Amino acid sequence: MNKAIDAYGPMQRIIEEGQRDIMHTYAQFPVVFASGHGRTLVDTEGKEYLDFVAGIAVNALGYGDETLAAALKHVIDNGVLHCSNLYWNPYAVNAAKLLKLVSGMDKVFFCNSGAEANEAALKLARKFGHLDGGHRSGIITMEHSFHGRTYGAITATGQAKYHKDFDPLLPHISYAVFNDFESVCSLVDDDTCAILVEPIQGEGGIIPAEKEFLVSLRKLCDEKNLLLMFDEVQCGMGRSGMPFAWQTYGVKPDVLTIAKALAGGVPAGAMVASGVAAEILQPGDHAATFGGNLLAMSGACVMLERLAEGTLCDHVQAMSAYFLKALHALQAKYPSIAVDVRGLGLMLGIQLSVPPRTVVDGAMSRGLLVASAGYDVLRFVPPLTVTEGEIDRAVGIIDEVFASLASQSE
Ligand SMILES: Cc1ncc(COP(=O)(O)O)c(C=O)c1O
Repeated sequence: MNKAIDAYGPMQRIIEEGQRDIMHTYAQFPVVFASGHGRTLVDTEGKEYLDFVAGIAVNALGYGDETLAAALKHVIDNGVLHCSNLYWNPYAVNAAKLLKLVSGMDKVFFCNSGAEANEAALKLARKFGHLDGGHRSGIITMEHSFHGRTYGAITATGQAKYHKDFDPLLPHISYAVFNDFESVCSLVDDDTCAILVEPIQGEGGIIPAEKEFLVSLRKLCDEKNLLLMFDEVQCGMGRSGMPFAWQTYGVKPDVLTIAKALAGGVPAGAMVASGVAAEILQPGDHAATFGGNLLAMSGACVMLERLAEGTLCDHVQAMSAYFLKALHALQAKYPSIAVDVRGLGLMLGIQLSVPPRTVVDGAMSRGLLVASAGYDVLRFVPPLTVTEGEIDRAVGIIDEVFASLASQSE
C-alpha cells in the first residue's frame, strides 16, 4: 500500500476530516482509494474495485501506466513543473503538434478543465460575431447538455437544475432540442453566431447525436456563417472509438473543446479550432496561468502519442462491440429493469426503470465502480485499455445486481 496515504490513517478518519474541512459540494461515496493497477482501484483497507468510471472518463490508460509515469517523472526530475505562458515550453509545443495531428484541427489553446475550454469557446464565438463591426452574440446550445460549472458553462448547459439560484446567467444563450434540427432552425436569427453541441451527450444520459442532425448543423452553420462548436470534453480522446467523435461522425466542427483524458489524469483542457476560427483570438484576448503547464503537457504528449498510434482506438472499437453485445444480452434477460442500451465506443449506458443509485451501490458493494448519468441512466466509461475479461466481470456483477432487484420486486 502507498505509504504516503497510509500515513493519513484509517478510512473513516479521512472521511470524517473531509466532511469537516472540504466544502460540501459533492455527495461522496464512503470510500478512500490508496492505489491502483490496470483497471483496478484499491481502497485504504485493501478492497479491490474494478473501475468502470475511470475518474469520470479521465483515466483512459487506467492505473500505473509505466510510460505515463516515466514521462511525468522526467518533468519532475528536471525540476520545472511550470514556467508560465510568458515563455515557450517544449511539452506544450509538442502536445499542440500531436493534438493537431489527431484532431485534424489547426490551432490549440491550452487550459485546465472542460469548463475552461468551453469558456474559451464561448469567448471565441462572441468575438467571431463581432468581426468586421458585427454585433452577433447569440449562441445556441442543446437541452440536456452539460458544459461545466463556470458561469458561461452553466449558462450553456441546457438543464435548469444547474441554473437554479445562480441567475442572472449569461445573456443571448438559447436551448434547442437535441437531435431536432427544426428546433435549432427556429432559434437562429440575425444575432446568432454559434452552435455548441456534445456529439454524445454525457451527463444528460449518454445520448449520441444522430448523424443526420450533425450533418444538418454543419450545413446550417456554413449557410448562415455560424461557428459549429463540439464539446468533446467527455466523448473525445479516443472514447468514441476514434480520437474525436467528429471523426466517428464525419462532421468536422470549427471549434472543439477537450479535457478529462487529455493528460491521462493530470488536469488539462484545450480548445482547438480550424480555419477562420483558429485565427480569431489574439494576444490579450484570453489566457490561463496553468494552461500548457509542463507536467500536464508531458502527460498530454503520452496520451496523444497513444492515440496517434491508432491501436488504442482499434481496441476501443473492439471492446465497444463486445461490451454492447453483453449489455444487449443483459437487457434481453431483464427487460423490465433495462429499458434501453445505448452509446458509442466506450461511453455506454443502460437506461433503467429503477433508480441508478440502487445499481451503483449494489455494484460497488460487489467490487465494481459504475456511475449514473441523467436521472435514469447507468453510465459505463471504463479506461480505454479495458479487456474482454474485465467486461465479462463487470457485466456479471451488474447481472447479479439486476437479479437481486428482480427478486425483490417479485
Ligand atoms: C461534455 C462535458 N463538458 C464539460 C464538462 C466540464 O468539465 P470540467 O469538470 O473539467 O470543468 C464535462 C464534465 O463532466 C463534460 O462532460
